[in-house]
Amino acid sequence: MKEGKASLTAELTTVARAGESLNAEAIRLCYDPLAREFLGMPLRILAGSRLLTRIALWCAERLIPGVPGEVLSRTQYIDDCLKARIEDGIEQLVILGAGYDSRPYRFEELKEKVLVFEVDHPATQEVKRKRVMRVLGHLPGNVIFVAIDFEKEKLQNRLFENGYDKNLKTFFIWEGVSYYLTARAVDETLAFVTNNSGTGSSIVFDYAFEKVLEGKSEVDQINRALKAWERAAAPLTTDEHFVFGVEEGTIEEFLSVRGFSEIANMEHDFFESAYFKGREQSRDVSRICGFVHATVGSAESRPRLA
Ligand SMILES: C[S@@+](CC[C@H](N)C(=O)[O-])C[C@H]1O[C@@H](n2cnc3c(N)ncnc32)[C@H](O)[C@@H]1O
Repeated sequence: MKEGKASLTAELTTVARAGESLNAEAIRLCYDPLAREFLGMPLRILAGSRLLTRIALWCAERLIPGVPGEVLSRTQYIDDCLKARIEDGIEQLVILGAGYDSRPYRFEELKEKVLVFEVDHPATQEVKRKRVMRVLGHLPGNVIFVAIDFEKEKLQNRLFENGYDKNLKTFFIWEGVSYYLTARAVDETLAFVTNNSGTGSSIVFDYAFEKVLEGKSEVDQINRALKAWERAAAPLTTDEHFVFGVEEGTIEEFLSVRGFSEIANMEHDFFESAYFKGREQSRDVSRICGFVHATVGSAESRPRLA
């Protein structure tokens, strides 16, 4: 990411959630009533209009087919995972690359009993903190902001110095981030999770398929859009490049050698059947990413640290 510049992609996913949340309950893919509040101007104005957001989502669908459906249904899926994990009694929630994720502020159940770590790039996090202040008027006591560049600093150093407890049952959310990181940063993050969280901890994240990063998606429009983003948009904006992917069909192996178990992998068909209802059935989820929920395995199954 560009030094000192807040993430543009974080703003874009938030405007999509805000627009979708204006739809009727019977047809929307996710509901994030705080998303609009966390936007800056002028996107907050756009996100207040059902007509404008429908036009924007329609344009995005033409440009990058299936991506709006993917971004929105992954949010609902992660919300569902979080609800289930709260019922399981998690004690800590760590949101990696949090962007304008509003879960710490819209899940009432977190406020009483779960310590939340919002982990993000310093530039994005500075803006987020100001927006939380604007929306809530204060920074909630159970939310701890941890600024880090995953490429330059160690997650363990930053989390431990901010009060993270490695013995507690923890849920990690890593939504829309892994593909912007190098393989080394991805490995270090996963190693932190397996080596530093209590029994019953787990992580949910999305990952890009390697073939898409190589420009070999079966949807030509996606190949063209990704090329245009990499060549023109990313360098001109916040320098968020797609650099990391996993070969399709290999995520179970990828995660089990890194010490995870109970690996549930989901792809576009799962989201389409689970979340697309009413007239939204005609919407699509792209074949760019897989989504995975994995539990931290027993101590014996974890890889030895170098
Ligand atoms: C697409 S946004 C996703 C934001 C949020 N999780 C969501 O789904 O709306 C990518 C996020 O990754 C963060 N990010 C990207 N590269 C990073 C890095 N090297 N270190 C820390 N955070 C990074 C950005 O600041 C941004 O918040």
